[in-house]
Amino acid sequence: DLPIVVTGAASGIGAAVAGLLTDAGAEVVGVDRSPARHGVARSVQADLGDPDSLAAAVAQLPRRIGSLFLCAGLSDGAAAPRRVVEVNFLGLRELVEQLAPRIARGGAVVSTTSAAGRGYRENAADVLGLVRTTGFADGRRWCEQHHGYLDRRGGYRISKEALVLYTKLRCWELMERQGVRINTVGPGVTDTPMLADSAKAHGAARLDALLAPVGRRATAEEQAQILLYLNSGWASFVTGQVIWSDGGRISTEEVAAL
Ligand code: NAI
Repeated sequence: DLPIVVTGAASGIGAAVAGLLTDAGAEVVGVDRSPARHGVARSVQADLGDPDSLAAAVAQLPRRIGSLFLCAGLSDGAAAPRRVVEVNFLGLRELVEQLAPRIARGGAVVSTTSAAGRGYRENAADVLGLVRTTGFADGRRWCEQHHGYLDRRGGYRISKEALVLYTKLRCWELMERQGVRINTVGPGVTDTPMLADSAKAHGAARLDALLAPVGRRATAEEQAQILLYLNSGWASFVTGQVIWSDGGRISTEEVAAL
């Protein structure tokens, strides 16, 4: 019955998560840079890519939390690579670290990586450097030192690979100390306002090419249901995992590479 915190609650997948949780009777506190108007009991406005704004938001959040959903994010078309990493990974990690002590035993952290993060193994030798930084400022320094790498690969993929690796590295201690699970969902192309920015960065044709084999975009609700599943008792033995909810795209690529 404790309140549930949802970032990105003003739009897309986060708004769908907030709506489903509220429909199920939960008290949802939304965190977003835009005000969340639907599906939340309370809306806290903050820029999660700015440590001062993030700290101010943390001060307004409940002292005890049932679970934490992390859906705020930016795509490559919306900002420079460093800013994308700051919002999608550094700010997200900072929020988890600051709120983790408040999450009740049996609760969960559930985030949205992306199908764009599927290269987390191949790129681990580089991206683990970012994941092992010790806080926001240290992470920002890593980005400055690796600006050529960020420019070459784009901030989005790096941020989403970092999130998968962080989920896997963090699960042990969260479980052992607190009985809290941490998992992430990797959506394929999903019909939300973010797609306009992705199309700007990569071209609409490239997004359409990613729809096979399912042949359509996911809805925000389809993604939200996977996030809710990972928070539920049905997933009580699942932690440190990524579920690729991508309509079959990644498996097809994996099979082709065998
Ligand atoms: P969206 O653009 O509809 O919603 C993202 C929300 O995050 C917005 O409400 C926005 O205001 C908020 N946000 C962005 N930057 C912020 C910041 N600095 N501080 C606070 N809030 C901020 O996008 P969508 O599609 O719902 O994305 C949700 C998550 O799912 C993101 O992490 C995204 O990377 C991921 N995802 C989305 C896919 C898609 O095709 N739509 C595919 C794969 C992953």
